[in-house]
Amino acid sequence: MSAVRLRELSKTFHTGFWRTRVHRALDAVSLDVPRGAVLGYLGPNGAGKTTTLRLLMQLVHPTSGGAEILGRPVGDVGVRRRIGFLPEAVRFHDTCTAEEFLEYVGGLFGYTVAERRRRAALGLDRVGIGADRRRRLRTYSRGMLQRVGIAQALLNDPEVVFLDEPMTGLDPLGRREVRDLVLALREEGRTVFFSSHILNDAEAVCSHVAILNRGRLVASGRVGDLDLRVRSWELVAAGPGESVQAVGGAAARWVTRIADGRYALELPVEPSPEALAAELAQRGIQIVSLHPRRETLEDYFLRRVAEAAAAAISDDEAECA
Ligand SMILES: Nc1ncnc2c1ncn2[C@@H]1O[C@H](COP(=O)(O)OP(=O)(O)OP(=O)(O)O)[C@@H](O)[C@H]1O
Ligand SMILES: [Mg+2]
Repeated sequence: MSAVRLRELSKTFHTGFWRTRVHRALDAVSLDVPRGAVLGYLGPNGAGKTTTLRLLMQLVHPTSGGAEILGRPVGDVGVRRRIGFLPEAVRFHDTCTAEEFLEYVGGLFGYTVAERRRRAALGLDRVGIGADRRRRLRTYSRGMLQRVGIAQALLNDPEVVFLDEPMTGLDPLGRREVRDLVLALREEGRTVFFSSHILNDAEAVCSHVAILNRGRLVASGRVGDLDLRVRSWELVAAGPGESVQAVGGAAARWVTRIADGRYALELPVEPSPEALAAELAQRGIQIVSLHPRRETLEDYFLRRVAEAAAAAISDDEAECA
């Protein structure tokens, strides 16, 4: 059973004074998120990430298509108790303390007073602000507020956690903390569906990605299965520096000494590196390793978004012709 399933999910907004302008924020998006996956739901500004999460939380209703969480339609009351949600750019009542806020949220779940206290204390410890739990939220830094938001999303011990841009607006330290939290959720076997446009963070924590552009899904799958292009090869050779230079120097983009008698050569994709490896070996130079260097998730993302934009332009041209 999937943790989250989107089926041809579409949302059209009518904008302008007379509501005559039609804007397709989400266009027939289908996606299956397996249980235990950490999905990075990625896309540039305005791609439709928040709209998708709002549809999943039933804050807006789809124009067509549908979605399921844990095998049930999104509105199912039983399912709502098993999920957590961190909205985008969440605002808190800043005169209350973190403890008061979380106990209030616990009240919404119908927990007893003792249970609310227990869960609030555990949750705040977990996100590393237990010591500050009695301070007013207005004295908190942005990173601390984000962590309160995450503690709120985890208060009911959810099986599936939805986080809208949990790392945006945080400094590198704050981002690292949120990343570690997401990794901990992954270790616990929870499913995490988080939107982001910070690709490095996604690369560090995701098992799966889905890339959205102008309301359309342009790529999705396990991170390991993405067709990341080989950008270059890294060959590590052991032998006298002069010989490595003499044989490989011309073919390599650069040669760096990584230890005594050990050199890394960065080779272009073409010609393939096997001939050079054979020549080095013939001269008695040992090949320690040969690895492809692939494009990063960021390169892949930019490439797929550019390809999708080019395809949209040629579709428009075909329609006009
Ligand atoms: N309530 C609304 N009324 C009209 N248009 C909307 C509404 N909500 C979203 N949109 C439009 O739908 C598109 C998708 O917006 P959405 O907020 O889902 O994007 P996003 O991927 O979350 O972007 P960001 O990275 O900026 O958060 C945008 O063009 C946005 O202007
Ligand atoms: Mg958004």
